[in-house]
Amino acid sequence: MKFEGRHILSTKQFDKSALIALFEKAGEMEEQIKEGKSDILSGKILASLFFEPSTRTRFSFEAAMQRLRGGVVSNADMMNTSSLTKLETLYDTGKVVSQIADVIVMRHPEAGSVAKLAEGSDVPVINAGDGPSEHPTQGLLDLYTIWKNYGKIDGLTIGLVGDLKNSRVLHSNSDLLKHFDVKFVLVSPEELCLPEEIENDLKESGCEFVKTDDLLGSVGDMDVLNCNRLQVERFKNSEDAEKYRGSFQVNNEILKAAKKDMIVLCPLPRMEEILKEVDDDPRAKYFQQVENGVAVRMALLAKVLGV
Ligand code: NCD
Repeated sequence: MKFEGRHILSTKQFDKSALIALFEKAGEMEEQIKEGKSDILSGKILASLFFEPSTRTRFSFEAAMQRLRGGVVSNADMMNTSSLTKLETLYDTGKVVSQIADVIVMRHPEAGSVAKLAEGSDVPVINAGDGPSEHPTQGLLDLYTIWKNYGKIDGLTIGLVGDLKNSRVLHSNSDLLKHFDVKFVLVSPEELCLPEEIENDLKESGCEFVKTDDLLGSVGDMDVLNCNRLQVERFKNSEDAEKYRGSFQVNNEILKAAKKDMIVLCPLPRMEEILKEVDDDPRAKYFQQVENGVAVRMALLAKVLGV
């Protein structure tokens, strides 16, 4: 896969060799972070357009750009303070911002919105989350974290736990993981299971999976437990979400039933899905994930900018 000059809108764009190439580059970027000497993106500008709340993803992209000595122009509140409030189209916003910046990263609450902006853009646009649909770079950094911890992804059993219906992170995860020889344990209440098209896609790619609502009973099979909070903002009525709150909690009891070398991932933020008591367990990797995210985004920015 050629990265240079390409929009990164979907995990569907990646194949196994592109993923491994990106992980290797991210490994190099971790060295750059330690040495602090690389200026390969000097003179380049990232425009960071966020229409939906973010802590990690925006900071991570902006830090990645700055670690490589690039510049950043950023708006964390596009919904209320950009020309979209004057009814400018996403197409035109893309066209305009691409005259100013060399690469654009964007998050928006509607599925397909990042692609609309990308249509107008003359520079690469990276999807930082479009509604319930996809969050490709979180998927990339999740897989990088697995690869780093196990030195491989093939042969592992991956638990995806929680609100599988609405979690764009877990959608992106399953779509990337299907390139590897993995088994899935899908843990959710029946009503919050993976969308049918994603499940069909897993079937077609030949991945084995089991569906259950019993985390305690299934955790012992997992090498990776990737959980995500209830995506309350994606429910039509937030009271509907409340009935699922606390259904799947990762706590010391769950860890006791898990393999000694299982790893716990979570894109964060967490609510009650992971108790703080888990943080000190060496299997908890969700803060390491945040760190890995910067290296993965450095690698991706360097690749799309062709340096
Ligand atoms: C995720 C997101 O925004 O989809 N957060 C993140 O980017 N790290 C997960 C979430 O909000 O639950």
